[in-house]
Amino acid sequence: MNPALPDKKQLNNERKSGVKVLVIGSGGRENALVWKISQSKLVDKVFCAPGNGGIAELAECVNIKADDINGLLKFALDKKIDLTVVGPEIPLVVGIVDKFQEKKLKIFGPSKFASQLEGSKVFAKEFMVRNNIPTAKFRSFIDSLNARDYVDEVGPPLVIKADGLAAGKGVIICQTEAEAEAAIDLIMEKKVFKEAGIQVVIEECLEGEEASILAISDGDNFVLLESSQDHKRIFDNDQGPNTGGMGAYSPAPIVSEDLKKEIAQKILRPVIDGMKKEGHKFCGVLYAGLMITKEGPKVLEFNVRFGDPETQAILPRLKSDLVEIIFAALDGKLADFKLEWDSRPCVCVVMAAGGYPGAYQKNKPISGLEKAKELKDIVVFHAGTKLEKGEILTSGGRVLGVTGLGQNIKEAIANTYKAVEKIYFEEAHCRKDIGAKAIGRSNEATTYGTK
Ligand code: AMP
Ligand code: GLY
Repeated sequence: MNPALPDKKQLNNERKSGVKVLVIGSGGRENALVWKISQSKLVDKVFCAPGNGGIAELAECVNIKADDINGLLKFALDKKIDLTVVGPEIPLVVGIVDKFQEKKLKIFGPSKFASQLEGSKVFAKEFMVRNNIPTAKFRSFIDSLNARDYVDEVGPPLVIKADGLAAGKGVIICQTEAEAEAAIDLIMEKKVFKEAGIQVVIEECLEGEEASILAISDGDNFVLLESSQDHKRIFDNDQGPNTGGMGAYSPAPIVSEDLKKEIAQKILRPVIDGMKKEGHKFCGVLYAGLMITKEGPKVLEFNVRFGDPETQAILPRLKSDLVEIIFAALDGKLADFKLEWDSRPCVCVVMAAGGYPGAYQKNKPISGLEKAKELKDIVVFHAGTKLEKGEILTSGGRVLGVTGLGQNIKEAIANTYKAVEKIYFEEAHCRKDIGAKAIGRSNEATTYGTK
């Protein structure tokens, strides 16, 4: 019996009543969302725009890009979609929620105003100051000469961040003054992130361990999801360049029950109350990227959506019906909502294409998927794949998120890598140490999560 990871046949048998859902996006996070949403007892039909090769097994993929807001709106109106769930940040930041709501369509995510928490680092930092939320000390600059003077004044190590969206690449950690100068040159003069780099935030470099906490909010109240930890760097032991995320595990044992309470009280509550006070209730997923420092948790960044690949490690542990939670959030009824969790840890290992995170290979046939899926407590989420003439081919940099549960973190890691070994595509690579950081704390890891 494997209640957390039902197969497709089970899903179809369990479908009961009428709700039509549209999921927007095409990555591993969206595969995990579609997988969980299609298990909902409320849901009858799931569409995904544009989806990918794996999502096509569970949902009807429609060829509309995630940033084609008018195309998505027309589709949702034509198909009488009951609920739209937005995966990536770009549609949120450009205001998809406001547009759908104008047409009385139910859509889960924050408004354009509230999405600035992710869309503008300057906005987020100033919001945190206004609302007394702990974060790194910073200054923002629109003029590169002033930015350079500030670097001179405070000295390295520093973190320099492009203000706007830069596909996760707009943050440069500078250990020397020369690196800081080069970062300012790159962002503000060479304009590598275009208008996202018109302003920069320069902030102190925080030390500690990172963790992500996601909450679902109805604008007044929120429920915490289980903690998780991403692995941003391409190589083992957090070496090499940053990526979109090479894997994740949940729970992150560093986030003790006490720390969770502190995060809720000092960070999440002030965001939800602050947004409400400013006239823009935050309804959707609030993702706090945190550094757990000696002085307590501090915010590195906010995202206004589910994390990728954190979602792949969190949703297999969620026993509650995600669609019920989302409807409760949209109806302002989260106050008494209790989420149920599988206490077993979950690990997601990303298999990437040759060359990633640089220019990467495409169109490589993938084999072994069926063998991997047969293993107990394993689900393989697709990210950069496409279905062509009945064959699954690679099409993106991060190709698959192989995900597994175990009685403890060690077992979850072992199960997941066993599944990874079954899968082959030319020049596939993955980190070999996903979850390793949690092992030291594994006694705690087995006990978290049961509420
Ligand atoms: P962000 O997109 O702002 O979360 O930044 C990406 C990554 O840069 C984070 O996950 C951290 O590893 C690192 N980072 C960002 N800000 C800081 C900071 N103030 N101190 C240390 N590391 C940081
Ligand atoms: N895992 C980082 C993100 O979703 O932005």
